[in-house]
Amino acid sequence: PLALLLAAALGYLLGSIPFGLIVTRLAGLGDIRQIGSGNIGTTNVLRTGRKDLAAATLLLDAAKGAVALLLARAFWGPEAALVAGFAAFIGHIFPIWLRFRGGKGVATYLGLLAASAWPVALVFAAVWVAVAVTTRFSSLSALVASLVSPIVLVLLDRQREAALFAVLTLILWIMHRANIGRLIAGRESRIGHKA
Ligand code: G3P
Repeated sequence: PLALLLAAALGYLLGSIPFGLIVTRLAGLGDIRQIGSGNIGTTNVLRTGRKDLAAATLLLDAAKGAVALLLARAFWGPEAALVAGFAAFIGHIFPIWLRFRGGKGVATYLGLLAASAWPVALVFAAVWVAVAVTTRFSSLSALVASLVSPIVLVLLDRQREAALFAVLTLILWIMHRANIGRLIAGRESRIGHKA
């Protein structure tokens, strides 16, 4: 139990680092929460026009999830890895440093998948790209990719990971409720439209 608590703390601390906010601020772009959708994630960083910063945000937000999971696995074993992964996801979405108003979890979800079942991360990425290329909606791409991933985990007989990622998908969908509303209303902004 102490190991699981430590894993949760480690995961939360790593997950709560708001890289999108940090890289845009370091680049002198001001507060990303005042731009576009106000989200601190890759898609909104892209709305600043800085593809390099968007790529850095994607990479770092994914990496923090992967690192949390892999460190916990190395220190405390596979169960702690799942706990740390869940905590990192929660940390990203509800960071104490930002009064619990963080991101929507897409990049961190991908990083956690990469660290726990990398072929499924490839499936996630492929589905994301396929939907993004056809619709240019980042949110819709993430919603569909996150729906597919737990199903693929079930088919691969990875039931524990499937359960974890099903919960993460549910949270991810809840965090996208405003996006879902805009998609339905035909008001969601497309990738490539600057803020
Ligand atoms: O799924 C991508 C999600 O982060 C959308 O971001 O900024 O369009 O709300 P945003």
